[in-house]
Amino acid sequence: MSDFLIAPSILSADFARLGAEVDAVLAAGADIVHFDVMDNHYVPNLTVGPMVCKALRKYGVTAPIDVHLMVSPVDRIIGDFIEAGASYITFHPEASDHIDRSLQLIRSGGCKSGLVFNPATPLHYLDYVLDKVDMVLLMSVNPGFGGQQFIAKTLDKIAQARDIIDSSGFAIRLEVDGGVTSKNIRQIAQAGADTFVAGSAIFGADSYQQAIDAMRQELAL
Ligand code: DX5
Ligand code: ZN
Repeated sequence: MSDFLIAPSILSADFARLGAEVDAVLAAGADIVHFDVMDNHYVPNLTVGPMVCKALRKYGVTAPIDVHLMVSPVDRIIGDFIEAGASYITFHPEASDHIDRSLQLIRSGGCKSGLVFNPATPLHYLDYVLDKVDMVLLMSVNPGFGGQQFIAKTLDKIAQARDIIDSSGFAIRLEVDGGVTSKNIRQIAQAGADTFVAGSAIFGADSYQQAIDAMRQELAL
């Protein structure tokens, strides 16, 4: 596994065939499974919860599952996702009443923790919790829907987050989510990201293999 991780977002998968879809992207070379949880409250859309995560584990998915919580409140669903076999659990800091506590809850369940930043959310939420964070997830679209256009301003923010992470000395992944394609992935990596969520660019392609290969080729240049 290279240090660049490709994380297909199941939001763009065929939910009626979810297990097979996840198998297919993993067979095509994906590293981790990005699992978008939307509650029709924090974001204007509704997706899936811990039962579906658990079902993927029961079905046989062993790859890391990267649970992106777009829910409010945050804490009461964390335990269910730990129990359901999540690997990473990330949440939006403005959706949590007690950010430090939410991060601790995630790690105390043996999962990796992370904070997610919307395009307009400042990075200063990281100031006092860098030692409790395994992943910083920068949204490059406003959350709620797949298939949106990458917001170019995010590139500056990726570089800022990379500086913060490097100066912290902690091993923290920097993930980018929204509008990632083989056309912009190199620029996103050059700005400092190491983990790339892609929904429509992978699940919308005729060949998942070709879509992931095209991204890897760009990352290798
Ligand atoms: C948006 C989700 C994303 C979404 C990305 O709220 O968090 O993970 O699935 O989809 P694309 O790659 O199509 O922008
Ligand atoms: Zn996401």
